[in-house]
Amino acid sequence: MEAVEGIRIVKMEGSHIKEVARLERECFSTPWHENGLRYELTNPLAAFYVALDPKGRVAGYAGMHNIVGEGYVTNVAVYPSCRRRGIGRALMETLLHFAKENHLRLVTLEVRASNAGAIALYEQLGFVQVGVRPGYYQKPKEDALIMTKDYWHDRAFPEQVHGAEFLTPAQ
Ligand SMILES: CC(C)(COP(=O)(O)OP(=O)(O)OC[C@H]1O[C@@H](n2cnc3c(N)ncnc32)[C@H](O)[C@@H]1OP(=O)(O)O)[C@@H](O)C(=O)NCCC(=O)NCCS
Repeated sequence: MEAVEGIRIVKMEGSHIKEVARLERECFSTPWHENGLRYELTNPLAAFYVALDPKGRVAGYAGMHNIVGEGYVTNVAVYPSCRRRGIGRALMETLLHFAKENHLRLVTLEVRASNAGAIALYEQLGFVQVGVRPGYYQKPKEDALIMTKDYWHDRAFPEQVHGAEFLTPAQ
């Protein structure tokens, strides 16, 4: 099925790994390497998808782990030349669909505090900021915002995450 005109979203396969690793190198200062990505192909806790252009080339990818019924987004990235066409949103919606189908209680992720574009995307999809991990990122060092989409309003969740400072409702 085409999520965005000319773009198909499919499960990540071995034939996509090299292109996804290249995308990682292009987008992140501490990229995932081929071996780590390849491991996810057989990881029963992983849900990784790629967006393919009409020629079958990788335009973007997104991945999530199902950890005891909660979805942890590992990454989402789109090639610079393919951005602002709805591909990132379609990839995230695919992860959210997976979360719903698998009855995950919530989906959560970390994002650099300065990454306004990604934060806008997540907010558009109903994620809210629930906390901060001070100095979480390296190269350059930066805080991570913790953003969560909580389907079942489980108020116990924030207290269960270690090493994070959470916002109180008054903040
Ligand atoms: C974040 C990223 C995945 C978004 O991918 P994308 O395909 O360009 O996103 P979409 O076209 O689906 O955007 C959907 C909405 O998100 C918001 N958005 C996305 N990029 C934005 C930007 N650079 N500035 C402001 N808003 C942005 C907009 O609201 C956009 O809707 P609009 O285009 O109708 O205004 C992409 O910019 C990327 O790969 N960045 C580098 C890697 C990265 O930072 N990943 C996130 C790690 S936490």
